[in-house]
Amino acid sequence: MFKNKLFWKIFISYVVLLSGCLSLAGYFVSRVIKGYQMNLLAKHLDYNVLPINHLILYILITFAITLSIGFVIIKINTSPLMNITQIAQSFARGNFARKAEIDSSGEIGDLANAINTMGTELQSRMQTILDDKNKLDAIMANMNDAVITTNLQERIILINNAAKAMFGISKIILNKDYLWEKIRNEKLCNLVREVVRSSAKMGDKTQATMTSEIEILSPEKKLLQMHLSPIQIDKNTHGILLVFHDITELRKLENTRREFVANVSHELRTPLASIKGYVETLLENNVTDNDSKREFLNIIMKHTQRLDNLIKDILELSKLDSNELKIELHNVDVHLCMEDIFSHYKESCAGRDQTFELDMPQQIPMIETDEYLLRQLLTNLLDNAIKYTPKGGRIGLKIYPSNGSVRFEISDTGIGIPQEHIPRIFERFYRVDPARSREMGGTGLGLSIVKHIVNLHHGFIKVESTVDVGSKFIITIPQHQPKHTA
Ligand SMILES: Nc1ncnc2c1ncn2[C@@H]1O[C@H](COP(=O)(O)OP(=O)(O)OP(=O)(O)O)[C@@H](O)[C@H]1O
Ligand SMILES: [Mg+2]
Repeated sequence: MFKNKLFWKIFISYVVLLSGCLSLAGYFVSRVIKGYQMNLLAKHLDYNVLPINHLILYILITFAITLSIGFVIIKINTSPLMNITQIAQSFARGNFARKAEIDSSGEIGDLANAINTMGTELQSRMQTILDDKNKLDAIMANMNDAVITTNLQERIILINNAAKAMFGISKIILNKDYLWEKIRNEKLCNLVREVVRSSAKMGDKTQATMTSEIEILSPEKKLLQMHLSPIQIDKNTHGILLVFHDITELRKLENTRREFVANVSHELRTPLASIKGYVETLLENNVTDNDSKREFLNIIMKHTQRLDNLIKDILELSKLDSNELKIELHNVDVHLCMEDIFSHYKESCAGRDQTFELDMPQQIPMIETDEYLLRQLLTNLLDNAIKYTPKGGRIGLKIYPSNGSVRFEISDTGIGIPQEHIPRIFERFYRVDPARSREMGGTGLGLSIVKHIVNLHHGFIKVESTVDVGSKFIITIPQHQPKHTA
C-alpha cells in the first residue's frame, strides 16, 4: 500500500485540490453569511443565522467525507496498475508464471492483456533457451571427445568433463584461467595463437580452422587429434573452439595392422621365392635326374605346406579376432576329449622317441566350451611341446579341477624359452629363434591363436620355462561361461 507511489501522488494532489476548493468555498460562503448578518442587523431583525463556527464544522465534515470517497476511488483505480507493476517486476526476476488478473476494460485492461501475452511469450522463449542449454550441457557432459572454448585472450570459457579428465584438470575458474596455465603443451599453445592470429587477419573467421596431432604425457601418455576453429561466442566476442579426440588406441591398432601386413607379406614371400626358384630350375635346366627332380619337388611340397599352414593360421586368427565370432558353447566331456587327443599324440611322440604322459583324475567336471576351439588350443601347445623337445624327451598333459575351473598343464623337457622372450611369445609372428621355427614349418602364429581362444573363454594362461630344462604352459578355463557369450 505504502509502496504504491502513484496512489499517494494522486491522493495528495486530490487532498490539496479538495482543501483548496473547500477553503475557497468556505471563504465565499462566510462572506455571504457575514453580508447577510449585517443586512439583518441593519433592519433590526433578529433571525437566527448560521454561525461561522458551525460553518467550519460543516466544511470539515464535508472535507472528511469527500476525502474518504476520494481515497476509495483512487485506490480502486490505481490498484490494477500496482498489480501490473508487480507482475512486470516478477518478469524481470525471471518468474513468468504470474498473470495479471484484471477484469477492467479500457486502457488498463489492454495493458494487463499485453503484459500477460508478453509473459507467456517470454516464458516459452525462456523454456526453449533452457531446453537448448540442457541439451547442450548433456551432450557436452557425456561426450567422449574433449571440448574446450577460449576467448581470443586464451581464457577458458567452457570445458567439458572429458577435457578435464583428459588433461587432469580438477579445478578451473571459467573466464579467468588461461589455457596455457591449465594445459602445459607448447605445440597446443602455439597452434591456438596461430589460429587467433590467422582468424584476426582473415575476414571469414571460419576459414582459419586447423587440425593437428599432439602428444600429452600427463596424466597419461596419449596421442590426441586436435581440431581448432575460430567461433563467434556472442555478438561482439570471438573465441576458439578446441576439440580433442584420443587416437592412442587407433594409432596402436594401425601400427599393429601395418606390422601384421608387413609380416604376412614377408612370411608369404619367403616360401614363394623358394618355390619359384625350384620350379624355374626344373623348367630351365631340364633336370632329367629323377632323384634331383624328386628332391626339388619335395622341397616345393614343403614350402607349399608352409604356405598352406600360414594361410590357415591367418584365417583362423582373423576369425578369432573378429567381433562377430559366435562361439558354439556346449558342455564338453573333458575326459573323452583328452583321451582322444592323447591317443593321437601318443603316436606322434612315439615316432620321435618321446614319451607322452597323461595325468587325469577319473572325475573331471564338464566344461562349457567350443570343443573345436579347445582341441585347437591343446593341439597348438602339444605341437610346440613336441616340436621344441629333442628326441627322447618327455611330454606331459595334466588336467585337474580347480575352483570352478579346469586346469590344463602342458609340459615338456625341451629347449625352454629364455625369460626375456616369455612376455612376447604370444605376439603374432614372434619366434624365439625365427630360423629354427621356420625350418620346422612354424608360422609364429600358434601361441597367438592359443591366447585368443583362452581370452574368448575368459580364462588365463601362464608360462614357466627354463632354458634346456623345459617349459610348462598352464591354462585355466572356467567351467561356465557368462551368458552373453553364448
Ligand atoms: N614348448 C616350447 N618350448 C620352447 N619354445 C617354445 C615352446 N612353445 C613356443 N615356443 C617358442 O615360442 C615361439 C612362438 O610359438 P608359436 O607356436 O606361436 O609359433 P611357432 O611354433 O613358431 O609356429 P606355429 O604358428 O606353426 O605354431 C616359437 O617360435 C618358439 O620359439
Ligand atoms: Mg607353434
